Amino acid sequence: MSGRDAEHQQWWRHAVTYEVYVRSFADADGDGVGDLPGLTARLPHLRDLGVDALWITPFYRSPQRDHGYDVADYTDVDPLFGTLDDADALVARAHELDLRVIVDLVPNHTSSEHPWFRAALEAGPGSPERARYLFREGRGADGSLPPNNWRSVFGGAAWTRVPDGQWYLHLFDSSQPDLDWRNPEVGDMFESVLRFWLDRGVDGFRIDVAHGLVKEEGLRDQVVPEGSEPGSAAPTGGSMIERTLRDEPMWDQPEVHEVYRRWRRVLDEYAGPRGDRILVAEAWTQTPESMARFVRPDEMHQAFNFSWLLAPWSAEAFAAVVTGTLEAVGPVGGSPTWVLSNHDVIRHPTRYGGGPRGLARARAATLTMLALPGSAYLYQGEELGLEEVDVAPEHRTDPSWFRTGEAGRDGCRVPLPWDGDAAPYGFGPGTGQPWLPQPAGWGPRSVAAQQADPGSTLAFYRAALAARRTFATTAGESVTDLRVEGAVLSFRRGPVTVVLNCGSEAVPLPPGEVLASSAPAGTVLSRDLPADCAVWLRDPAAR
Ligand code: NOJ
Repeated sequence: MSGRDAEHQQWWRHAVTYEVYVRSFADADGDGVGDLPGLTARLPHLRDLGVDALWITPFYRSPQRDHGYDVADYTDVDPLFGTLDDADALVARAHELDLRVIVDLVPNHTSSEHPWFRAALEAGPGSPERARYLFREGRGADGSLPPNNWRSVFGGAAWTRVPDGQWYLHLFDSSQPDLDWRNPEVGDMFESVLRFWLDRGVDGFRIDVAHGLVKEEGLRDQVVPEGSEPGSAAPTGGSMIERTLRDEPMWDQPEVHEVYRRWRRVLDEYAGPRGDRILVAEAWTQTPESMARFVRPDEMHQAFNFSWLLAPWSAEAFAAVVTGTLEAVGPVGGSPTWVLSNHDVIRHPTRYGGGPRGLARARAATLTMLALPGSAYLYQGEELGLEEVDVAPEHRTDPSWFRTGEAGRDGCRVPLPWDGDAAPYGFGPGTGQPWLPQPAGWGPRSVAAQQADPGSTLAFYRAALAARRTFATTAGESVTDLRVEGAVLSFRRGPVTVVLNCGSEAVPLPPGEVLASSAPAGTVLSRDLPADCAVWLRDPAAR
C-alpha cells in the first residue's frame, strides 16, 4: 500500500471529529428538539469549518430519560429525531460533503423500556430473560439491602429492587439496567446491531461506557478507604475533574477487551473504499496505560484521552499529559486523541475561568491541542466560543440532577444559536422555544454573526483547522523539544513550533513565521506572545 493509500485507509489517525449533540444542534420540525433532518440541512457548516467527521449522539428509539443513552430499540430512529430514511439521507449527504459519520453505540445498558428488560421483569427470578441483566438477591435477613455497595454514577445506590424482591444493577439511572456481558446472547445481539449500521454505511461507532461492560465476577463490594464514600471515576456533570486510583470492580475488567477484539474483526470485514470503519472508546480509565489497552492493534482504533480535558490551566500539567499520553499509546501503535469539551463536562471557556480570559485560554488550549499528533474531537458550540449556561433548576433535565440535586450537564447542552437576535436564534423554525432555554444576548455568538466577523472565534477555528491541514498528515506522530520554561509550554511537531503561554505576562517568541495564533484578530505577533495565548510558528527553513 502506498503512503497515500495508507493515509486514506487510516483517515482516523489524524482526523478532526465534531461531536453533534443531536437534541441541540438544529431542529427541522419545530418541536424544540434537534433532529436528523435539521442536522442534514446544517452539514455545510461542518464542511466549512473544516472537520473530517462527525460523531452523532444516540438517536435510536428511547424514552429519553438520559437523552438517548437509554436505548429501547438499537435499530430504529426515535420519531423525535426522524426516521431510518432520514438517517440514510444524513449519511449520504455527509459523504457527499466528504464528512465521515460516527454513530454512538450504548452497549453497557439498555433502557428499562427495552423488550429484553420488560421480558426480564415478567419472567421472574432464575429465568433466561433475567440472565441478560444483572439481577441478584438482596442482602440482610429479608433481602432488603442492595447486593453490594456500588453507587450509581448519577448518585444513589446502583441497585433498584423489583416487586418480587430481586435487585437489578444500574451503574447510571434506574431506567438504564446494566446488561450481563458474560451472557453470550448479549454479544450476539450487539454484533447484529453493529452490522445493521455498518450495512447502512456509517463509518464508525463511539462506544459509550466502553470500560464498563464486564463487571468483576461475583460483584463484590468496592473497597473504599476509610473516611471516603464508594464511587466511580466516570463522569457526572462538572464533578469528575479529579481522578484517583481506586478499587473499581465495576470498571475496566480484563475480559472487556475480548468484546472489542470481536468487534474489530467485524469492522475489519467492512473496510472499503472510504477506508477503515472505526471504533472509538469512551473509557474513563484511571491511567494512560489502561487507556492504551483499548487501542491495541486488534481492538479499538481510538479511545478518548480525557487527561487533556482534566488538566488544569498549567504548562506543566499540559506537558505531563502530552508526555504520558504519547508514552502510553506509542508502544501499542495507537494514535492519540485529544478533547477539551463534550456533552458531559463543563465547557472549557468556563472551566478556564469564563469571560474574556476564559475564552482566550480556551482558544489557546484548542490551538495547542490541534497541533498535537493524532486526532482531535471538538464539541458543538465550542467553535462559537460558547460558555456553560446557568440553567435554572426548573428547566434542568439531567438524570444526575434529579438523583443528586447537583446542577448536572444541562449547561453544556443548550441548543445552538444559528442566527438572529432572540431565542430560538434559528435553532428551529419560527419562534417556538427549544427544550432548554437559550440565554438572552446570544445573538453575537450565532453562526451567522460570527461568519460575518473575521475576528470571531468561528473564524479562528476555521483558520486553525485550515492551517492544521498543511502539516497534520505529514508531520509524523511524535513531538520533539517538549519544554516547560516558567509558565510557558513549547514543543515541535514536524516543521511547526508550538508555544503556549499559561502565565500572566507576555513572553519573548522564538523566530518563525506565524502559521496560526489564538490571539484576537489584529494582534501582530512579532516579538512577544501575550498571556493566555498560543501560536504555531513555521520554521522558515521548512517552507
Ligand atoms: C456517557 C455519556 O456520554 C453520558 O451522556 C451518559 O449519560 C452515560 N454515558 C450513560 O450512558
